Amino acid sequence: MKSNIVLIGFMGTGKTVVGRALAKRLNWQLVEVDSIIECLMGKSIADIFQCDGEVCFRELEIEAIKKTASGEKQVIACGGGVVLNTINIDRLGATGVIVNLVASPGIIMKRTSDNQGSRPLLNIDRPAECIKELMKLRKPFYERAADISISTSKLNIDTVVNKIIESLKNYEGFNL
Ligand code: S3P
Repeated sequence: MKSNIVLIGFMGTGKTVVGRALAKRLNWQLVEVDSIIECLMGKSIADIFQCDGEVCFRELEIEAIKKTASGEKQVIACGGGVVLNTINIDRLGATGVIVNLVASPGIIMKRTSDNQGSRPLLNIDRPAECIKELMKLRKPFYERAADISISTSKLNIDTVVNKIIESLKNYEGFNL
């Protein structure tokens, strides 16, 4: 029986805000994988990318996911690149239902433009092009990993939360 809800999706699809609202509604613990890594390293994700490099970040991400996946009754908000390493999805999928949040490139651009500095992959000259390119590259990874997909472009947070809960009620093998 699975007993975690795992939120995946590109940067700016709403994993953190939806995760927070969903955890509150269910009275479950919210686990933000990026926050675990920041606490462990004592520095921001942007600093980890800059000082230690993306490869180091991905290794830390694998370790953080391994620990988190062994818990239960958690809403796990993942970083956008978690799908790039299959081992992460195998571990998360073994104990949780994987919910893929989707949004259009335009919406993602709008949502991420306020705090680009905190997102090292978008802290570049032409983020709009990078978003489109990266999204295209990653789309099959998100789709392959997903048990459920929800588009958040036109929905408010509560509606997304309701949709997730509705989908999970009908999900066989999940303990809500
Ligand atoms: C990343 C997404 C970020 C963070 C890191 C790398 C990615 O998380 O993990 O900057 O590769 O898509 P958010 O999706 O929460 O912004």
